Amino acid sequence: MGRAELTRPIQASDVEEIKNIVVDLRDLTISAELEVLDVGAGGESVIFRSLGREIYGLESAEEEMNITREKGIEDIVGAKIHWIQGDAREMPLDDRQFDVVTSFFTCMYMRDTENKQKMLNECYRVLKADGVLYLWDFSITTLKQVFVGKLEILLPGDQAVSVSYGIGGEEKEQSLEGMKEIAANAGFTLLQEEVNSPYFFLKFGKK
Ligand SMILES: C[S@@+](CC[C@H](N)C(=O)[O-])C[C@H]1O[C@@H](n2cnc3c(N)ncnc32)[C@H](O)[C@@H]1O
Repeated sequence: MGRAELTRPIQASDVEEIKNIVVDLRDLTISAELEVLDVGAGGESVIFRSLGREIYGLESAEEEMNITREKGIEDIVGAKIHWIQGDAREMPLDDRQFDVVTSFFTCMYMRDTENKQKMLNECYRVLKADGVLYLWDFSITTLKQVFVGKLEILLPGDQAVSVSYGIGGEEKEQSLEGMKEIAANAGFTLLQEEVNSPYFFLKFGKK
């Protein structure tokens, strides 16, 4: 049995919850002529809302796409998400299609290094030769069964979104250095690094 495996209902003491994590996306801009793919684009569709323009959204979960639709987020933004249902580790996309790929707290759901590597290899493959990857994610070191980060995301136009992203069970540990190594193995060059514990932002170039 793994050290974090439970044989009883989950309790508050099994959860590491980090509150009041502010992610400021008010200055996030990507030129309108660049093709953007957001990986794990459903739910609150934070990247789409931040950019306020047409994007391609890869999402594995139909229910997450439905949440975006039910919230009327495309109408609110006044632009379209071109949905692609599929797996970030095996994207149903051609090589070198996008100028920018974004991943907003999606890598954590790949869990182990092998699956994160598959995802970043795919991000590299679908980017054009001078493409850029923007990656936000948590450093997760807890020994508890469940990790939850509660984010307050600041968007342009004085908007804000409150979301909680959580993950439980084995193989949820994730580190900044580990992610940089995985990205380097995929072929990426690190362009920018910002650490706002417990989350980090990394920007990588394809060359
Ligand atoms: C924490 S959410 C990302 C942020 C979310 N787009 C938002 O704006 O709130 C992670 C998203 O990645 C999706 N996801 C998880 N595993 C995936 C996979 N293997 N392939 C594609 N999407 C995946 C989840 O369904 C979820 O919508």
